[in-house]
Amino acid sequence: MILFATQALGGNSDTLRSRAEKKGLFIGGAMRLYKETLDDPKYFETFKNEFNVIVPEHVMKFDATHSSEKTYDFSGGDLIVDFANHNSMKVRGHTLVWHEAVPPWVNQYKYSRRKLKAILHDHILSVVTHFKSKLLCWDVVNEAIGEDGKISREGIWPRIDKGKHLGDYIKNAYRWAHQADPDVLLFYNDYGTEEINKKSDGVYNFIKDLKKEGVPIHGVGFQVHISYNEPLNEESIRENFKRFSDLGLLLHITEMDVGIPKDVPLTPPVLEQQAEQYRKVFGACLATPLCQAFLTWGITDKYTWINQVTDMTAPLLLDEFYLPKPAYRVVKSLLD
Ligand code: G3I
Repeated sequence: MILFATQALGGNSDTLRSRAEKKGLFIGGAMRLYKETLDDPKYFETFKNEFNVIVPEHVMKFDATHSSEKTYDFSGGDLIVDFANHNSMKVRGHTLVWHEAVPPWVNQYKYSRRKLKAILHDHILSVVTHFKSKLLCWDVVNEAIGEDGKISREGIWPRIDKGKHLGDYIKNAYRWAHQADPDVLLFYNDYGTEEINKKSDGVYNFIKDLKKEGVPIHGVGFQVHISYNEPLNEESIRENFKRFSDLGLLLHITEMDVGIPKDVPLTPPVLEQQAEQYRKVFGACLATPLCQAFLTWGITDKYTWINQVTDMTAPLLLDEFYLPKPAYRVVKSLLD
């Protein structure tokens, strides 16, 4: 399999990985498994040289693993876990409960609450059991809090809960995941929560309540999908990260990318502005006692979701030729 056929392409021992490991940190990115990447040895070579943690961009999601009620396919996740093991890397599981990536056999039928709950229960137990003892952590629930800071009713899963019990499906998801693998770290993951705002207040208060109820949750993921010129309040990010850390939660920056509009030339000043956004967020992570992982959503501009679904491009640390951008240099210098 190509994943294991990569040879060392000339050793640079001073990499993001070597520097992160000296500080006991995880640094990595989302791995995409499709023809283009599987035919690109540089992709896997770069992953193992520069990074020590991987998150599957898609292959561990509900629609990729559970295509019909009795059919599971873990091949994509197994491949990434094998590659990680082969290269002494960790894997973040992503994600068990989300309003997206739900296959038609779940989304399109009118199930009773009881049946829907049974489907989710079976999914979580089956998937977490399959990957038991193989993952660093799971994003058990992804994007369940709205911009207003309240539990969202978006998607199929909130239909499990009646009225004021909205949120029980989330608590059960963490309990079921913990039942299936008591050792894997369980995270809540969301976007737009890097600064102190209505949404991050909602996430903070929600997780605080979960912990008070004894729900097994160990960490919080901050996706950080932002653009190169949006104002970022560094003080607010640091304050926000600290309050989650003060709850005893681990923090992961889980999906960072910093998009640049396709019609903006990638000039040095624009790339420096992009680098500054990475400095603010990664610097805040490094300043937060329990922030242990920094991942970008992809590792090279050659393969990024962002130019497929938005008018943005070039969001990552390495350009489409795997060459370091100013953002790469900033992250590396912060690991000095
Ligand atoms: O693998 C199938 C392929 O067999 C099929 O031919 C093709 C056309 O239908 O679809 C392929 O699956 C696609 C998958 O990406 C793999 O490329 C799905 O349709 C597509 O919906 C999926 O998009 C992913 C999206 O999440 C939804 O799962 C994006 O790549 C991924 O970047 C995006 O990532 C999300 C995080 O999970 C959560 N945070 C936001 C982030 C960006 O939206």
